Amino acid sequence: MAKIIAITNQKGGVGKTSTASALVSGLQEKGYKVLAIDLDPQGNLGFCLGVENENALTVYELMKGTANIRRVVQSHNGVDVIPANILLSKAELEFSDFGREFLLKKGIAPIKDDYDYIIIDTPPALNILTVNAYVATDFLIIPMVPEILSLMGISQLAETVNLVKGVFNPNIEVLGILLNKYDGRRVLTRDVEEMARMVGTEMNTKIFKTKIRQSVAVAEAPAHGISIYEYSPKSNATKDYRQLVDEIIAQRGMKVNAKKK
Ligand SMILES: Nc1ncnc2c1ncn2[C@@H]1O[C@H](COP(=O)(O)OP(=O)(O)O)[C@@H](O)[C@H]1O
Ligand SMILES: [Mg+2]
Repeated sequence: MAKIIAITNQKGGVGKTSTASALVSGLQEKGYKVLAIDLDPQGNLGFCLGVENENALTVYELMKGTANIRRVVQSHNGVDVIPANILLSKAELEFSDFGREFLLKKGIAPIKDDYDYIIIDTPPALNILTVNAYVATDFLIIPMVPEILSLMGISQLAETVNLVKGVFNPNIEVLGILLNKYDGRRVLTRDVEEMARMVGTEMNTKIFKTKIRQSVAVAEAPAHGISIYEYSPKSNATKDYRQLVDEIIAQRGMKVNAKKK
């Protein structure tokens, strides 16, 4: 059965989508069968992975129950992707029935066994979409940038995780906090890292050993529709993301035997 990892932080611009995209391509490169799910109405993950989302069936129709899972999955460059678009922003109002927290989990249940890893990108919010991601996932990764403001709001994030853990998904586990746009020479970075460590302790998780350095490749690769590994194999962030993939796989309970493709 696939290991599911959701990338979450209700702040925008911390590197959720970049990280989701890099994990998807990095795991795929290692020979794993990977499904990427975009759960952000901005549709950035689908764009980064080079799939059509404007006129496609998306995760919205899947959650709504109006499209079969086989019709929402697109394959591109060896990766399967369930894209999102702006229609998903109707979720908060539209998904109001009993069981609204389980729509994603139910939607992907029929194909869960077809993959080694499923990576979910989430919106910059704590809303019904975020809750659906937390209910469907096994693990969370929380990217953070080393800025003071980035730590504000983290307690609401922790509360939401705990709520979901208590009510809907007792097995959810925070795999770690990922420091992104990292510059170890800056005093502020080190101060914030220390605070992030305290937050991690409170959330019963750790800071990943791997930090992702600032690299223009991260910003540029999506425009070319290719992964950072292809776009800029030697950039710092590329090396860091490779190391992150290894660090994740090496973690207890995270390794899977790759499916034959
Ligand atoms: N390590 C990095 N180095 C340089 N730019 C980065 C890095 N990580 C993210 N970015 C850039 O920062 C912006 C926000 O990243 P993104 O992944 O979209 O964050 P989120 O999904 O959390 O909103 C994007 O323009 C992205 O290209
Ligand atoms: Mg994003």
